[in-house]
Amino acid sequence: MYVYLITSTDDGIDGLPFTLPRNWSSRANSESWVLFTMSIPQFLPSSQYWLGALFALGAVLVYRRIVSSRSSRTKVESANSVPSSPIDQKYERPFGAWVPKPFDYPTITPCSGDPLALKPIPYRPFRWGDYHVTMGIRSMPWDDWIELDSEFMHFAKIRESRMNARGDRVLRSLPARPGVESGAPAAAELLHELAEYLHRRYPSVYTVTRHSAKNSTYGWYGEGDIKTITVGPLNRSFNLDEGEPLKIATMLIQEDLAIMIEGEDGRYYFQAGTVCNAGTWRLEDKIGMPLEEIHISGDVPRFKSKLELSMSRFFRRMPLDKPVIRNNYTFQVVRSSSTFDPSELGWATSMKGDENLIESDGKRWLRDIDGSLTEVTNLNDSPEPKEVDPSMVWMRTERQTLRRLPRTGAIVFTIRVYQTPVVELVKEPGVPGRMASAIRSWPEDVAAYKAKSAYEGIVGYLDECHAKQVAEGLNIEEVTKPFPL
Ligand code: HEM
Repeated sequence: MYVYLITSTDDGIDGLPFTLPRNWSSRANSESWVLFTMSIPQFLPSSQYWLGALFALGAVLVYRRIVSSRSSRTKVESANSVPSSPIDQKYERPFGAWVPKPFDYPTITPCSGDPLALKPIPYRPFRWGDYHVTMGIRSMPWDDWIELDSEFMHFAKIRESRMNARGDRVLRSLPARPGVESGAPAAAELLHELAEYLHRRYPSVYTVTRHSAKNSTYGWYGEGDIKTITVGPLNRSFNLDEGEPLKIATMLIQEDLAIMIEGEDGRYYFQAGTVCNAGTWRLEDKIGMPLEEIHISGDVPRFKSKLELSMSRFFRRMPLDKPVIRNNYTFQVVRSSSTFDPSELGWATSMKGDENLIESDGKRWLRDIDGSLTEVTNLNDSPEPKEVDPSMVWMRTERQTLRRLPRTGAIVFTIRVYQTPVVELVKEPGVPGRMASAIRSWPEDVAAYKAKSAYEGIVGYLDECHAKQVAEGLNIEEVTKPFPL
């Protein structure tokens, strides 16, 4: 049905057609204000006709937006197959409801050569000049979801030993609770997604066997589900139908994994994951929390003012086909004498103290592996500041990726850690100067979050190295290059 919005002008009468829904008359109560608004221009003095007309036009547009939002919501709720429009997927889902979507998987380019012979990618994500807090995300080429390099075996050794020794303190999948689905289906989906991707991207490392294509749930391009995956360098095969999916997933790659599930309140909950080498935070402290609580409880600088809103919007709207990457960095003092984990990849003991130490009820406790607590009374709160030699300081950077899984709608967050001794970094053209500038640019809250006081002595050393590079003819453009390089 068409309704003409009548506006009188000095020149005569114009009519603008608007479509009303078929059942508009049965919704008269909620919508009669629109019709009323549309008639306003007729009662206004001629000098204000246009003003009235514009107001009426605005009212009708608002009304149409409400109607289209209602109808697409109803469509998703009642769908038992794929919702029809990208709008449904992007903006108009009821919170916590996900209808599995067919997804055209991208073609993955096989990596030529032996990826385990590659040096870790030298991410140097610090900037010259002012410090800005932003989400810092950029789009991720599908080929780059998971990276392998020469550190693979070292990571595998540390990660497996931590999973075996620490159990559900580093790996957990939470059951459903009111308002949030279980993390288990997403963990199973993630394992299959990884296996599908990895054997295509790194055929020299992974090989798979499959079930028949008849009852395929997870297979890409219509293939049967993967049954087993063999990791050549580890000389191990994993059966995807048996065992803990997250444990297998963790053995396949170098990344930590966090599975975020949308709750009925629209927030994203950390419902499953493996955190074997975060170094400074523990899965056991964060699992089950919504995204904002994870960050607020960690005192992430300017989270409320600069990040919370954009992050929650980003998560809710994240489409299947637009994965993203972000990088971060900090520094770590390492005083370890361990030969097993000399760079404190698993846990930054030199900076954070005993990994088993927790604070609760204003007291400190050591939590044993069996969960029992022993109160700690003899901790020295203000130990003498220790001299820091540049050789003890490492840059710790993370490469994080985010992508949404098509069947469960979960968002998977991967975290890959790279550690490089500062004494190595200063050999790179432009790096010591840019790094010193970045550290100087941290506002107080950022400096506190990054524990600058533990290693700020290196700034003088970085300046010296920079001056030396300049004296040796450094190309100044190298210093001011922005990241990503
Ligand atoms: C767009 C997505 C995200 C953004 C922009 C973001 C941003 C940040 C920022 C700025 C920090 C401070 C350290 C740094 O500079 O990286 C941080 C820390 C952290 N983030 Fe995120 N984050 C995101 C997603 C996630 C997800 C999905 C998780 C799920 C587990 C997570 C868990 C953490 C944790 C545990 C910390 C450390 C907090 C602490 O120190 O206790 N983040 N995040």
